Amino acid sequence: MIWQQKWVIGNWKMNGSLKTNQQLLQALQTSVSAMAEQVFCGVAVPNVYIVSSCQLLNSFALAVGAEDVSRFAEYGAYTGEVNAQMLADVGARFALVGHSERRLYFQEDNSILLTKLHNCLAAKIFPVLCVGETLAQREAGQEKEIVKAQLALLSELSLSEVVVAYEPVWAIGTGKIPTTTQIADMHQLIYQQILSLCGEGVKIRVLYGGSVNTKNAAEILAVPHVDGALVGGASLQADSFAAIIQAACVPAL
Ligand code: 13P
Repeated sequence: MIWQQKWVIGNWKMNGSLKTNQQLLQALQTSVSAMAEQVFCGVAVPNVYIVSSCQLLNSFALAVGAEDVSRFAEYGAYTGEVNAQMLADVGARFALVGHSERRLYFQEDNSILLTKLHNCLAAKIFPVLCVGETLAQREAGQEKEIVKAQLALLSELSLSEVVVAYEPVWAIGTGKIPTTTQIADMHQLIYQQILSLCGEGVKIRVLYGGSVNTKNAAEILAVPHVDGALVGGASLQADSFAAIIQAACVPAL
């Protein structure tokens, strides 16, 4: 069922507190519960808030996930790390993998990201692989090659389900968004790549991320091959996140 629905996932990044999380999640429960049947909704939260977020949401249909996962699968002497099994243990249902902020600040490349994907799959939490080009790469006309190279690691895994978020780095937190044609072209390319790397039977969701807000969500979500949104800043307020989920309820024309 969720493979026919739009997905809307919030990425809180390094934001939140017990108090504000409670306010946000309670407000979302009220405003989103009717829509949660039609749209697969989730929030990627800082690891320290996974347990309390799961408790607050209880059986409410809003999935809690992690923003990252350790490259190390095993327990042991990896100070500061949190492995995929731990995330699953405390209730995370998914993890973002390869967000551009991780690629930028933590030098995460395909070999590291491949281990993270493996670890998520082994722990039965689904990875959301984030890809996207920088402004310089887009200006140099390299965006398709870059995204293809970022997706290449999918051929190393035998996947029957793939979730990718296309997030052009230059659109993240900037208020700039690609044109709908640019989004459509890239999403089509991502679909083609996934099908050729993983086989025709694979189930696919490709989300768009980067400055999605209440004003542009409906237009972006109506673009062909856009199966949902990964929302940063606008997911931190219940009103705006709920409005984006509402926009995802409208079937594409
Ligand atoms: P913004 O929606 O704040 O641009 O962030 C997008 C993002 O990075 C989501 O992962």
